Amino acid sequence: MDTEDLSVNLSENALFASVVNRAINRRGFLKMGSGLAATGFLAGPLAGCTSLGQGSPSLLGFKAVAASSADTVTVAEGYTARPFVPWGTPLFSTGPGSHWKGDGSETAADQARQVGENHDGMHFFPIDGRSSNEGLLVINHEYTSVVKGRYITLFGSPAAPANSLDRVNKAMNAWGCSVIHIRKDTGGQWAVVLDSTYNRRLTSASPMELTGPAAGDALLRTSADPTGRRVLGTINNCGNGFTPWGTYLTCEENFNNNFGTTVEPQVDGRSPAQKRYGITAGATEYGWETQHARFDYKKEPNESNRFGWVVEIDPFNPLSLPKKRTALGRFKHESAAWHFTPDKRVVVYMGDDQANDYVYKFVSDQPYVEGNPAANRQLLDSGKLYVARFDNGATRGDFMGTGEWLLLDKQANPLLRADPDFPNQAAVLVHARLAADKVGATKMDRPEWVAVHPDTGEVYCTMTNNAQRTTSDDANPREKNVYGQIVRWREAGGDAAATRFQWDLFVLAGNPTVPGHPGTPQAGSANVHADNTFNSPDGLAFDRFGRLWIQTDGNYSNTGHFAHQGNNQMLAADPKTREIRRFLVGPRECEVTGFAFTPDHRTMFVNIQHPGETGRGNSHWPDGGQALPRSATVIVTKNDGGVIGT
Ligand code: FEO
Ligand code: CA
Ligand code: CA
Repeated sequence: MDTEDLSVNLSENALFASVVNRAINRRGFLKMGSGLAATGFLAGPLAGCTSLGQGSPSLLGFKAVAASSADTVTVAEGYTARPFVPWGTPLFSTGPGSHWKGDGSETAADQARQVGENHDGMHFFPIDGRSSNEGLLVINHEYTSVVKGRYITLFGSPAAPANSLDRVNKAMNAWGCSVIHIRKDTGGQWAVVLDSTYNRRLTSASPMELTGPAAGDALLRTSADPTGRRVLGTINNCGNGFTPWGTYLTCEENFNNNFGTTVEPQVDGRSPAQKRYGITAGATEYGWETQHARFDYKKEPNESNRFGWVVEIDPFNPLSLPKKRTALGRFKHESAAWHFTPDKRVVVYMGDDQANDYVYKFVSDQPYVEGNPAANRQLLDSGKLYVARFDNGATRGDFMGTGEWLLLDKQANPLLRADPDFPNQAAVLVHARLAADKVGATKMDRPEWVAVHPDTGEVYCTMTNNAQRTTSDDANPREKNVYGQIVRWREAGGDAAATRFQWDLFVLAGNPTVPGHPGTPQAGSANVHADNTFNSPDGLAFDRFGRLWIQTDGNYSNTGHFAHQGNNQMLAADPKTREIRRFLVGPRECEVTGFAFTPDHRTMFVNIQHPGETGRGNSHWPDGGQALPRSATVIVTKNDGGVIGT
């Protein structure tokens, strides 16, 4: 169910894709062919050298993996990938859910004490701040796969609808986050510390708090919560972030799919804002509104306003209430990547994953103070929220340009100050998409994860694809952008709080193996070739050595536009040379998403989400045989014990 492929942005703001494509056309990319175009593409300000790999030792030490359509995880030679904490893994040795039955027959109560489904964003918190042998692994569980209203794995095989209260509650308990205490055993293998007091499931029913400028506003009040400050649950936990003060950020993405109605479902009763956020007009595929009135927008119109936030979780305090940080704005949050300004204020970069939606950043009012965790935990409650406009810059056709961060502030931005649709700052934050429409943000090709280079502060963001784009002529060669691209920017003066930036493209994904593509933008940029071709970059992270890890969530048909690309995968890139190398390929019908590293970078955790998502029996990973496919983490290690990626 990819509702994010559909644009709900009816504003007249410019499309980033058209900016890019105008640039491509203006510098004669198509006429010159890929070779000449590549020279320009490689000459970006941070390219570091004038041709691929020249004069700079590569950060990538592993041998590339071939594309694959096998139902297994393939990883680079000399590495091992071992499945870990799949869906249903017990976190406790006694009581409900203490055994995985294998057939999906667990109840809601069982599921609440087991690892959730559809693993996504993730972070490893060393138990003592340093350990690479013990820590808390926090994992997002984005959703449960449904085809035509039937859950394909959650209730076992065959697929079945959530047609009872316990089934809906089981689905709600399979979503959210897991906090899992893990430790290397005496044999050096990672294992769950069963019954640890840290082990915790946060589900779609767990109590949470709304904090920041919008908390308590009328837009956030419901019949169950007249305070507008207490919410049950987190949903659609997609990508993630973490903070320098040791907390986890989980990002609520496609919450709109959980809100529909049973009241005259053929009648679209949505407000303009509910349409802009894509709330389901009638019955949802998940069916939660059939059992819980709060998911019915006609019965409880404000409940959906309480989702679509970045939620801060303290993994080390199992009794703490997760906090939905309203200062960071409400949209379909993909991930949250932090950086410091020179004076130690905290900046959080965020993408809104929808065709033709936007890139945002938050800048805290107060600086981070080392050793003052109580103060640091207030930092995300007060600050400025901006949305990005990407301009062509002085030269056209060079895959780079300039940009501006547009302030989403009711008082300080005259466009919002004068607008009665936004009576206060709470309305700006709850309806951040509509505020961003007003100020002229640039429509992007589905902004997914953001990653900040650990040394340079350069920011990278995946634009996964935008097949919906229809300006189809030679002047716009990436119409129906099925491949995606990665854009990166440098803040003015190297200050993450700056309101101006320069941007360029790091890679234009494409497929040069398709006849007719070479010499056109469909082949991708010069750093894409037959041995690393991929589509739909999504997950994105830097390791501390500056390697850029890229994960894909795209078309795995391995035919047509996607020939020779195989299953979804993970690649690594060297930001200086722009070289990209495939490192790992996932099993059938999965996406590869989420990263975590131990401090020594000798263990890497990667998530395999929804193997066998079509429900056609094409995957039985990781258990094999005829087993239900299960989302799981994989633990990647180098056989010689070395640093991952070397
Ligand atoms: Fe949950 Fe946009 O990926
Ligand atoms: Ca330009
Ligand atoms: Ca994603």
